[in-house]
Amino acid sequence: MAKLSVRDLELTGKRVLLRVDYNVPMEEKNGVMVINDTTRIKETLPTLELLRAKGARVVLAAHLGRPDGKRESSMSLAPVAAKLGEMLGRPVAFVDETVGDKAEAAVAALKDGEILLLENVRFHAEEEANDPAFAARLARLADVYANDAFGAAHRAHASTSGAAQAIRAQGGPCVAGLLMERELKFLGDELDHPARPFVVILGGAKVSDKIKVIDRLLDKADTVLIGGAMAYTFKLAHGGKTGKSLVEKDHTGTALAAEAKAAKKGVKFLLPTDTVIADLKDTGKLNKKGRPVFEFVNPRVNVGDIPDDCEGFDIGPETTKAYAAVIAGAGTILWNGPMGMFEDPRFATGTNAVAQAVVAATQDSGAKSIIGGGDSVKAVNKAGLGDKVTFASTGGGASLEFLEGIPLPGVLALDDK
Ligand code: 3PG
Repeated sequence: MAKLSVRDLELTGKRVLLRVDYNVPMEEKNGVMVINDTTRIKETLPTLELLRAKGARVVLAAHLGRPDGKRESSMSLAPVAAKLGEMLGRPVAFVDETVGDKAEAAVAALKDGEILLLENVRFHAEEEANDPAFAARLARLADVYANDAFGAAHRAHASTSGAAQAIRAQGGPCVAGLLMERELKFLGDELDHPARPFVVILGGAKVSDKIKVIDRLLDKADTVLIGGAMAYTFKLAHGGKTGKSLVEKDHTGTALAAEAKAAKKGVKFLLPTDTVIADLKDTGKLNKKGRPVFEFVNPRVNVGDIPDDCEGFDIGPETTKAYAAVIAGAGTILWNGPMGMFEDPRFATGTNAVAQAVVAATQDSGAKSIIGGGDSVKAVNKAGLGDKVTFASTGGGASLEFLEGIPLPGVLALDDK
């Protein structure tokens, strides 16, 4: 169902509470919190430019990390306000409160076209509890509710759900931002009516994490390509040996059921025919959980059973070639989950090659390529290809739940067109 959008409203002089997902990776450098990846901020700029052009007074609400309802200085949004101002090329005000007198005064000081970022909504336990009184305090700050935080839309929290209801009760509209619209278009409409062949690439560690997505997409896809550690559970299900690879022994039945469904539906279901393995060398050290730390040495390509002392970390060259050939002929591509442990360059070859193949299909033959969030987006960005695909979702858990067909509270909270 299409949602009402910021584009549909007359907003001059209106206070717009825009929920954004500025849960960006940060690290401390010389006592200062530094943002490592600004993608989520960048993706909200079109909405902010539009709201400014429409003369709205923008009040941004966001969370950062999981401070558990307590003020935690390393999770303050102050550095995000500074970065946003830099990226917009104009000042963004920041108030170190989320609700209350100080926040209300900061909102009252806004002029048409100006932007204010509130402090981390999760400094209040009432946010995650979706507390109606807290939602009402947020609602006091605005005439209109807008949501661009697709990445947090699977959370039924005060700023993603309750505040929308409270603003609606005040007679204000609840609308999607431009990023939210794009997320719903590409992960929703485009996949409901895909240009064919529709090729789905699924990776990641566990079959159990992806089975609902696999099951749903088997109703739509023409071909499914499986990679990542979850491929070893399929291998085990077929009686293969998987050595020390990550497997879910209690999900071999799930894996076989997915293949059976694919066969019944006439969906091609491809599993790796070779893999990159490595020997495990005990370092004698223990990690924080007290478990032994291993180094992975002597990486090499393996076909057939994986030796007892080895672990699989990537798809092999034969698999990569076969997958790239399928991707080259696709009309629509959905990719969720890396093909291997891409964080280690020795095991990133398969993931990088799939990323290159997806980009080539997009650029050379006009395929629509949609990267379904989380690690696959990280991998595409790491390969420097993020801007060469049709769409890369800003969601992690939200994208997965949306692809599973679960209605997201943050989307349900918005007015239908
Ligand atoms: C994310 O990073 O996936 C979103 O911002 C949601 O964060 P959360 O998992 O802490 O709710």
